[in-house]
This record gives sequence, structure tokens and C-alpha cells, in this order.
Amino acid sequence: MVEDGSVLVSLEDLVKKPYRELLAYPNPSDESVGSRIRQLKSLGIEGLEFEGPLRMGKLSVLGKGVVGLVFRGIAENRRVAVKIRRTDSRRRSMIHEAAMMRAANKAGIGPECLGSSEDVLEMQFLEGQRLPLWISSLKGRGRKARVKATVKALLEQCVRLDAYGLDHGELSRAHKNVLVSKGDHPWILDYESASLMRRVNNFTSLAQYILLSGRFSRKVIRILGPVDRDELVKYLRLYKSGRTNDAFKSTLKMLHF
Ligand SMILES: Nc1ncnc2c1ncn2[C@@H]1O[C@H](COP(=O)(O)OP(=O)(O)O)[C@@H](O)[C@H]1O
Ligand SMILES: [Mg+2]
Repeated sequence: MVEDGSVLVSLEDLVKKPYRELLAYPNPSDESVGSRIRQLKSLGIEGLEFEGPLRMGKLSVLGKGVVGLVFRGIAENRRVAVKIRRTDSRRRSMIHEAAMMRAANKAGIGPECLGSSEDVLEMQFLEGQRLPLWISSLKGRGRKARVKATVKALLEQCVRLDAYGLDHGELSRAHKNVLVSKGDHPWILDYESASLMRRVNNFTSLAQYILLSGRFSRKVIRILGPVDRDELVKYLRLYKSGRTNDAFKSTLKMLHF
């Protein structure tokens, strides 16, 4: 057991209130709660810890999106993250998301997919912060170098996903889909909208989000210094035209990376 004072709620207890309300959120029926508990059991998950940055009623979780709620859990004495499908999700199962996450893993990207069932995705637990909180938490000397290194690592991950042929689909909203863990290591999360059939846009979407548009890019630019927008747009076009390596290298050079 991982000892840090967290309370592990066993599978038997998840059937009770208030846990059941999050297990089959937002419409827990006996059937949906029971089925989810059976799925957790079949994946070897021993219980959930209800710890994390997001408060929901009296309980805490790692996160919540339109598809699922993400919990901290224990499986084989290891801490894991467990995404459980919402009953009102537009996705009818977690099967596609698990397949896409496994594809990303083959490219060396994303939290490791550890197991999946119809409504449950078990994955590597990440202790990290979302991009906006992470960047606000950086103080003092070394901040610029740290932002540079993380942005570079993130762009590299996108190039790798592009080369593999997996389009994430939601990197233009990276504040929700990237976590930065200790050592400033970025992780691309949430493969529910990902596709191996679509034209890949990971690098261009993320570069746009981080360097060109929106509140987060303004924070980044304030730390890194001004970016020649016209030149960057030119490189993104070059990337789209297929000259990905040249475009990537030119982008890094322009940013003095
Ligand atoms: N492996 C993980 N480890 C820690 N926290 C995670 C993990 N996966 C997701 N989260 C947290 O849960 C939130 C929602 O997850 P996400 O997969 O984006 O759900 P949705 O598809 O419903 O939007 C994320 O923004 C993140 O804060
Ligand atoms: Mg999401």
C-alpha cells in the first residue's frame, strides 16, 4: 500500500453514497454503479483514493471533463489514474480513447495506458499541474530557461505524434490537455478526440496555442520575449506543406531554443 495518509475506498464501499455519485456521474443507477465496480475489479483496481485538485461535493478527484471523471486509485500496490466514463458522455465507451492512447504510447507519448474496459481507462498516474498554473508558479531566475525547455519538449512530442500519424485533435486547447510534472516534464493527455485517419495537426495547433493566440501565449511571450508572428506563421505553413523537419528546426532557431 502506498503510505501517505490517503484513505483508500475499497470497491465494496464505492457502491455507497457519496462515492456512487461520482462513479456513475451524473446519473448513478444501481446498474451503472454495479457495472463500473465490476469493471474496476476485472482491471485489478483495488480502490479509489478521492484525492486531487478538483473538489466535487465532499470528495476530491484528479479532474473532470466532458467524457469522464479522473480518480486516483490503487492497483497492485501501485498508484494509478482511473478515468471513468460519465453516464452523459457523448462517447459510448472508452474503447476508442484507450486504443488512441496505446497508439500514442507506441510513439513514446502520453501517460501509459495500463488497461481498459467499456467505461474505465486505467493509466499511469501523473503528479502535475496544468500549463497555466505551472507557468504562474515559476518564479525568479531560471524561469525563462525552464519555459524554453518545456515548450521545446512539448513541440518535440507533437512532431513525434505527427510523424506517427496520430492527430490528437484538441491541442488548440492545451490548457486542458497538457500536464507538467516535476522536472518540468510535459505530458499530452486525453486521447478521446484523437484519430489515426485525420490529417495531423499536432505541431501547428500547439505552436499556435503556445505562441500565437490566447491568454496563455501572452504569458509565454512575456517570459520568452517577442516572437515574429509573420515568420512563425510562415514556418507553420511550411510545416503543413510537408517540410516538417525544416519548419521545426526553423521554429526552434527563431525562438533561440
Ligand atoms: N493520468 C493522469 N494523471 C493525473 N491527472 C490526470 C490524468 N489524466 C487526466 N488527469 C486530470 O483529469 C482532467 C480530465 O481528464 P481528461 O482526460 O481531459 O478528461 P475529458 O476527456 O473528460 O476531458 C485532466 O485535465 C487532468 O487534470
Ligand atoms: Mg479533456
